[in-house]
Order: sequence, then C-alpha cells, then structure tokens
Amino acid sequence: MCGIVGYAGSLEAAPVLLKGLEKLEYRGYDSAGIAVIQGDKIDIAKAAGKLQVLKDLTANGEKVPGHVGIGHTRWATHGEPSDVNAHPHLSNSGRFAVVHNGIIENYQQLKEMLQKKGFSFISQTDTEVIAQLVEYFYQGDMLDTMIHLLNVLEGSYSLGVLSADEPERFYAVRKDSPLVVGLGQGENLIASDVPSLLAHTQEVCYLEDREIVIIASDRVRIFDTNGDEKPVRSTHIDWDVSAAEKGGYEHFMFKEIMEQPQSLQKTVSPRLKDGGIVLDDFHITREMLQNTSKIYIVACGSSYHVGVVGKYVLESTTRIPVEVDIASEFRYRQPIIDERTLMIVISQSGETADTIAAMREGKAQGARVLAIVNVLGSTIAREADDVLYTWAGPEIAVATTKAYSTQLVVIDLLALKFAELLGTMPEEELAAYCEALANLPAQVEDVLADKEKIQYWASQLYNKHSIFFIGRNLDYAVAMEGSLKLKEISYIHSEAYAGGELKHGTISLIEQGTLVFTLATYQPLVEKIKSNAEEVRARGAYLVSVAVAGDKQMAAVSDVVFSVPKTLPLLQPSLTVIPLQLFAYYVASQKGCSIDQPKNLAKSVTVE
Ligand code: G6P
Repeated sequence: MCGIVGYAGSLEAAPVLLKGLEKLEYRGYDSAGIAVIQGDKIDIAKAAGKLQVLKDLTANGEKVPGHVGIGHTRWATHGEPSDVNAHPHLSNSGRFAVVHNGIIENYQQLKEMLQKKGFSFISQTDTEVIAQLVEYFYQGDMLDTMIHLLNVLEGSYSLGVLSADEPERFYAVRKDSPLVVGLGQGENLIASDVPSLLAHTQEVCYLEDREIVIIASDRVRIFDTNGDEKPVRSTHIDWDVSAAEKGGYEHFMFKEIMEQPQSLQKTVSPRLKDGGIVLDDFHITREMLQNTSKIYIVACGSSYHVGVVGKYVLESTTRIPVEVDIASEFRYRQPIIDERTLMIVISQSGETADTIAAMREGKAQGARVLAIVNVLGSTIAREADDVLYTWAGPEIAVATTKAYSTQLVVIDLLALKFAELLGTMPEEELAAYCEALANLPAQVEDVLADKEKIQYWASQLYNKHSIFFIGRNLDYAVAMEGSLKLKEISYIHSEAYAGGELKHGTISLIEQGTLVFTLATYQPLVEKIKSNAEEVRARGAYLVSVAVAGDKQMAAVSDVVFSVPKTLPLLQPSLTVIPLQLFAYYVASQKGCSIDQPKNLAKSVTVE
C-alpha cells in the first residue's frame, strides 16, 4: 500500500526520493508524487500511473531542485487514482505539503469544520484535510502544530510534512502505520520500509506510535506528544543493498523462489543445537504450556495458509486444540479468550492492519501473544510477548514465497519445541524431526533443480481458465497456498478443495479437460487422495499431481507428475509448495503478467 519517503541532506532531494519510491513500488500503487523545498517555496510534481510518468514529468527529478523533500506512492482508498488525488497535498496557502499512508477515519467531520473556517478542497482524499489542518493549527511553531494534529486525527497514519517556513528540515509521525527513520552521514531520511533506505544507510530508528520526528541533514530529533525530547534509538540492519536488488533475475519473485534454500538454512540452522531446539526471544515455559487450553493462530493471506499448516502440525505434536482464523474475521467474532489462551500471529511485514488489530484484541483479553515475523522492529514484533523471526531477508515481490516457506519452518520448530517441553513426542522421533528439518534446505534445492520441467508444463497449460487444487490434511493446506499463488499473479480463476469435500458440490464444475492439481505427498492419506483423483479423472479432468519421488500409484492415474523428495510427514509442505510456486510463476510469465506487482494487490496491507 502507500509508500512514503523523505530526505534531508546535501544531495538533490528529488532523485533520491524517486529512487526511494522505486524501492517501495513492490507495495502496490497507482500514482506517485514528490514535494521539495526550494528557497522559501514548496515545489510539487505528481501524476497518476507508474513512477516512470513522474520521472518523465520531472526529468528524473532535475526540474524540482532542492535538498529537503518528501515523496509518496499512493494506493487509492478515498478517491480514484488521479493527478489531483495523488500525494503530496498542499495546504490552501501552498506553505505546507503532506504525504500520508493510512486512513483518517474522522476526515469528513474535520473537512466540514475546515470548510466552515473558509478552507477549500480540490481532491477527494482524506489526506488533504491534514494539509489544511496543519495550516489551521500553525502559529509559528511546527512541533506544536504536529502535537495539535495528533490530538485530532483518528485512524491510522504515517505522515511526512514540509513547511515552507522551515526549509532545512521536515517533520514525520506514525500511528498504526509503518515508518522508519534512516540515520545517515550528513543526510537523514524516512521511508515506509527499510529497502528504500539501504542505498544511504544501514542504521535505522523504528518509531513508536505518536512520536514526532524532526529530520534535518545533520540531526534527527524525536519528541513525544508533550513536546519532551526523547533519545534516538539506532538499530543496525544487516541487509545490504543487493538484498533489495534483482541481481540479474528477471523478477524479484523468481529470485526469491530461488533464494529459499538459503533463507531456510538461515532460519533453521541457528535454532538446532546439540540435538535440541533453541528459540531466541522465547519465554514460554513448560508450566505455561501445560496451562494452555487453546491456541489461536491468526493471520492474513499466505501467512494465514501457514497457520492452516500450523494447526495440523501443532495439534499433532502437542494435542492442544488449535483454531486458525483470518485476522479480519477474528477481531469481530468475539473469540473466546482468557489467560489460558496462546495466540500465534503470523506476518511477514509485521504491519498488516487486521493482524495488528486482532493481536491487540487478543492481548487485551488476556492472551499471551507469540509472533512469527520477518521485519525487524515492525509493530507486531514490538508488541508481541514473544517473537520468532523468519530470516528470509527483504521480500519484494507481492506474491510471497520465501517468507511463506520460512514461516512454515518456524511453525515446525515451534511445534517441536512445544513437544519437547510437554514431553508429547518420543525423543527418537524428535531427534529424527530435527535431522529432517536440517535437511530441508538441500531438498528444496533438489526440487528447484527440476524447474525446467515445471516451466515446460506451464507453457502447455497456461491458457486454462480455471484450475482446481485438491489435497487432504497438510496437502490441503498447501493446496490453498498453491491456488492463491496462481490466482494472484496469473489471474486464472482457481480454487483449493479438501479432496473428500469435492463431491459435495464443486465436482459439478469438473468437465473434459479441466485442470486439477492433486497434491498427494502427505503419506498417511495418499490412498485416499488417489481415490479423489480417480473421481475427477473419471469426469474428464486433466490431472497434474505433486507426489513424492517414486510414487508409481500416483503416476499411474496422472497425466503429469511433479516429484518432490520425501521427508517426515509434518515437514512435507515445505517441499510440496515449491513446484506450485514455480508453476504459478511460469504461467504468469507465459501470460506476460506483471509478476512482481500484480494488479490491485499490495504487499503490505496497512488499512483494514
Ligand atoms: C498481502 C500480501 C500477501 C500476504 C498478506 C499478509 O495480501 O499480498 O502476500 O500474505 O498481505 O501479509 P503479512 O505481511 O501480514 O504476512
């Protein structure tokens, strides 16, 4: 969703802002703009469409000179994507400019109040209200103005604000919306996400909600809403610039698929020590677990699909009941929570609005919250009681791959740790699982080595209008992810079904040539899913199966088989998902789709 950047330093601001915005393109956007202070005047350039339109309009920033500025990529919420609705928004006098990520819930009341005071509006956005409010509150002191602003705005926001009266600096603030400060040498920056800062610095400061930050080239100052100054907290990020570059690959998604063996290695190996599992920042004891009556796993999108795997895995290893919820449903369904509830929230970004809200709801009702997060210092990471990081590195493609697969292994590590604490798994089995986990990166490498075969079949099958994915148990959970991957980047309609449920309705959609992916890797139920495969085949389906290497039975009923190595049953999803990621990627590539930034989608959904 919307991306914010800001710069104060010795370089020309506009080209820096445009480069920073490029690094935020992955979040999804439909228009872009920049504002730069020149002398005592603010210059603005903005345009609907891709960043290239803005680059052309400004001659790559040359037409907007100055050393302090803010920029924005907009993902429309209030008002269509258009030049006038694009950010930055100017106040009536043109003395203040604002970029905003999030939603101002009380903007209508504020707008009416401002209109009565004589302010006029040109856009349909909630953001323009902020620009006029800044002007309305301003009495010569910008810090005071920002405090006033925080007192009246309701909703979620991160903001960058320029004042023509203060050409050497700009202001920023966040509440329930991501914003990071980059601490450079003779230059300082803000951005919605770290990749946008990496070309300038690896030292960052994660802001707390409602902290006001003043950014000048030589200094960053942070204030609370009483106007008291706070120390600047610096965190070193060990991602380098190349982590956020394509590095010779055509798409970030493909690069990230291919990076999975390394990301898995990084996530798993430091946590397997002396035959046991060592989890960092984890304070759950045997007593706490023995006292846990229920586990909720709450997440959105692919992270929710990891949760579905997690339910099977955790129930199997701990025998504690687990419920999986979509975060946007969980928060409004009055879940039954008490001090004996453990809530596991899963989020790559750590900034998904619904997941944050669900987590807060759970905490308020007494649940202990354990978070599985990829982005260091993100809201969920900061607010959870325990955090387990996925060490996937920055994920840029909207469709997640390496974050999903590292989340899977963290759930596995957690399930095994719980079993170790509770004594619910025989020691030899636990040791076997640890060994199998350690082998996963090499096995994923083997599946990736077979990519040409998947590419070939994608080239044969890419023109299907509808594709079904079926599986049972863990294979069903993976089917959900395979189906989502395909539809989000190739725009082919697709559904995932539990193998045994198909004949209760959906089988009516199977006709001659319908493509059905059968996932048949979960060993305890291969016989059962084979029967379901036969049922669709008897009705004319074209059958592609994902099966473990050497499975002759599935080969006999399938038109095509993608083989994956065998591992222990609970870990199999980590291998089964790989051909599905590759298939989705190659189909989208055949169709010429915008793979890294699919239409209508955003990487980090920071509004409800
Ligand atoms: C968006 C992304 C998905 C992601 C979901 C949850 O919809 O496009 O890939 O799974 O958000 O994001 P999170 O950062 O919370 O894992």
